[in-house]
Amino acid sequence: MIDAETEHHRRVAVALKETSATLETLGTIGREITASLNIKDVFGALHRHVHHLLDASSFVVYLLDDDQRALNMVFGMELGQPLSQIIVPLDLPESNIARCAREQQAVVIHLEPDNDQKTLIPGTLDTRSLLYAPLIVCERLLGVMSIQTSLPDAYGERELSIFLALCAYGAIALDNAAAYAAAEASQRRADQALSELRQTQGELIQREKLASLGSLVAGVAHELNTPIGNSLLVASTLRDESTQFLQQVQQSSVRRSDLERYCQSAAESSDLLMRCLVKAADLIARFKQLAVDQTSDLRRSFDLRTGCEDVVLMLSSRLRGAGHQLEVDITDGLIMDSYPGAFGQVLSNLIINAIVHGLDGQMHGLISIVGRPKDKQHIVLIVKDNGRGIQAEHLERIFEPFFTTRFGQGGSGLGMHISYNIVRSILGGSISVSSPAGEGAIFEMILPLYAMEQRLGI
Ligand SMILES: Nc1ncnc2c1ncn2[C@@H]1O[C@H](COP(=O)(O)OP(=O)(O)OP(=O)(O)O)[C@@H](O)[C@H]1O
Ligand SMILES: [Mg+2]
Repeated sequence: MIDAETEHHRRVAVALKETSATLETLGTIGREITASLNIKDVFGALHRHVHHLLDASSFVVYLLDDDQRALNMVFGMELGQPLSQIIVPLDLPESNIARCAREQQAVVIHLEPDNDQKTLIPGTLDTRSLLYAPLIVCERLLGVMSIQTSLPDAYGERELSIFLALCAYGAIALDNAAAYAAAEASQRRADQALSELRQTQGELIQREKLASLGSLVAGVAHELNTPIGNSLLVASTLRDESTQFLQQVQQSSVRRSDLERYCQSAAESSDLLMRCLVKAADLIARFKQLAVDQTSDLRRSFDLRTGCEDVVLMLSSRLRGAGHQLEVDITDGLIMDSYPGAFGQVLSNLIINAIVHGLDGQMHGLISIVGRPKDKQHIVLIVKDNGRGIQAEHLERIFEPFFTTRFGQGGSGLGMHISYNIVRSILGGSISVSSPAGEGAIFEMILPLYAMEQRLGI
């Protein structure tokens, strides 16, 4: 009696020891399986441990497809050989795999020898025991995992518990891996979208550059008109006077006073001609520099005041045409080592916007450009108009691409967006906008005197 009891205790102790060893092993395996975020590694680890813990000549994993209609074999091995892939419709009545998925419960089957079961996991071996269990995470069915062996009655309660534990780990790991793959895919899509956006931005800036080159050419033509027109006038007067004087000489009717008057007039005319032509040459030189800057992304040192004045000069015909005044008040000697073309583009966008939007329909508007040192490394430049200002709800959208209040009237809504990008990416500064009630629009830029190397590949 005592012996029988001792024997019973001994068996219980051995069983307990085995169970706790199995639990410990399962714990380690669980950590290993769930640590991987790669779906192939998860299958590999599951496959290895299934063989280590249970009798299984084959091991197969099926995953539910996206529209939840069928189970696809995503991993299948029989005695080290891959099984050919199959797809099992979820509503296939005679399929054990489909049944296990539909009922979301384990299915254990023990077959007699010489059975004619048609619903086995595809394989070549004679099968006597089969075990199917669902892969479930948070009540979500992911698929089915199954093993089979040629040993009879191979899957009892203990084997079922172990297999269910492996299925639980497997389901978590597969779900994690799928979530990671989805996150990676969306990261890739985001990266792709970002690089496309950068490219579009580059193209827009390029297009904007050409557009402002167009207004530059118009500006040149207009500004040269005055000195060259004056030169023509002076030259033709001089020609007339010379012809007249020549006639007097030929008729020998030249008096000393005529000679003096002619000489004086010729001297004055050539003086005037010189001044007009020097002005034209000076304008051409400045425009040439502007054109080079605008088309070449050239980095160079430039004086902030001269840089602003050149842009204003280019737009002066437009300003005069609209009857507005523009004041430039910039501290002398603020030397920037930056990108004058890009800077000029932003400034001309701001001035044109002030004319087109702020001062539209108004006469005698005033635009002011004030530049001051901010600290040793930065300047602050404020472009302000006394126009109608910007509505509060538009203020925060000003720098958005395609935001325009002149849709269908020639506004593309890209000017400020491009300017914002130029200020941030090329000039390395910041730009902000405000519009206090009763005043016009105020744009404030803070720019480093020394621009970092370009961050955008433009
Ligand atoms: N000085 C300003 N005064 C009033 N509104 C302004 C001023 N500057 C910009 N805005 C507003 O900001 C909007 C966006 O300006 P942005 O330069 O981006 O586009 P746009 O001038 O409409 O078109 P685009 O410059 O592409 O031809 C304008 O439509 C206008 O409503
Ligand atoms: Mg604009």
